[in-house]
Amino acid sequence: MAEEHERPEHTHQAGMRRRTLLRWVVGVGAFSSLAALASVLGTVKPPQTAQRGEKIKAGDVLVFALGQNKGAPLTPTSIVPQQAVLAFPQGKAVQDNLIILINLRRSQFIPPTHLNWLPDGYVAYSAICTHLGCTVGFSHEPMPGVPYPHIHCPCHQGMYNPLAGAEVVAGPPPRPLPQLPLVLNAKGELVADGPFDGPVGPLPGGR
Ligand code: FES
Repeated sequence: MAEEHERPEHTHQAGMRRRTLLRWVVGVGAFSSLAALASVLGTVKPPQTAQRGEKIKAGDVLVFALGQNKGAPLTPTSIVPQQAVLAFPQGKAVQDNLIILINLRRSQFIPPTHLNWLPDGYVAYSAICTHLGCTVGFSHEPMPGVPYPHIHCPCHQGMYNPLAGAEVVAGPPPRPLPQLPLVLNAKGELVADGPFDGPVGPLPGGR
């Protein structure tokens, strides 16, 4: 993934991601107030010089990326059902490690979701859109053509189905969002059980 960060267009994409954080409000509880939104601007500003960082690996504890609980470990009681938060692996808060963590009913999921990566119905995907790298959001409200909870990208209305491996259901994203293997550790915290199952964000050539 390091090679991706060295692409010339990367600085442009990083700026786009930061701007997108301003627009990303729907369905994510951490953004329930203007104060929380202000917090976003101050705390999840992507690095300008490099998005590189240590990759996610097995055992990394997931923590809130935003809001008053920023940095606190996530457990199965951290998110109410049908809601989502943004998370980082602890100590690795770089943009390409940004995760959207969603609390859904385990019985709702179907392949190609990795069904053994869903502790207590939690699913974790990269929060970086595979089209042009904006930050995605989540909504549990059905809408015409998308009658189930969905991950959406505000930049060009890309939509993904979190219940089916984040496959693309609308808009221009060329690939699903990669899924992160999740487990619970001995303390009952949500932790990664390895890296994402695919590349994060857009690839050269828009694939
Ligand atoms: S960047 Fe997400 S749909 Fe274009």
